[in-house]
Amino acid sequence: MNEKKVQFQYCEYTSDNQLSNKHKQLVDAAKQAAKTAYSPYSKFSVGAAVLLDNDEIITGNNQENAAYPSGLCAERVATFYANAQYPNVAVRAIAIVASNSEGFLKYPAAPCGSCRQVLLETEERFKEPITIILHGEEKTLEIPNAKSLLPFSFDKTALD
Ligand code: THU
Repeated sequence: MNEKKVQFQYCEYTSDNQLSNKHKQLVDAAKQAAKTAYSPYSKFSVGAAVLLDNDEIITGNNQENAAYPSGLCAERVATFYANAQYPNVAVRAIAIVASNSEGFLKYPAAPCGSCRQVLLETEERFKEPITIILHGEEKTLEIPNAKSLLPFSFDKTALD
């Protein structure tokens, strides 16, 4: 029997001023996007901003539905839109923020499993790591790639 360990390194910031200007800009874009989320059922608004290799920023937010599973998370709305508009441009980073009736969350909300899977596909599609910025008002995490958030993931190698 071999005991194995999975670990990864990430950065934790306690002030937005510690972020690069580009990542700060991305967080601001995600916050703006959260404000126009369609989340009448959960009242939990999520905003995502994707930074492309051509320096464009694409935003998205959660879109809910009375038939609950028909809705989609902010991360996938933004990522799918970016990939649909720019099928040949790599995604470099994504910032994710969330708010409830009291405002933006103090601590970052983590992306759900399906969003992690989609971010991983995008990372592998363009062969470029995607920095994942999980923003909270009091703490922000910068995770170096999507793969780190999804160990033992299912990917296209299984289909070969
Ligand atoms: N949500 C996101 O937009 N992203 C996530 O990664 C987790 C959850 C949305 C889905 C739903 O509209 C609301 O948050 C509550 O789950």
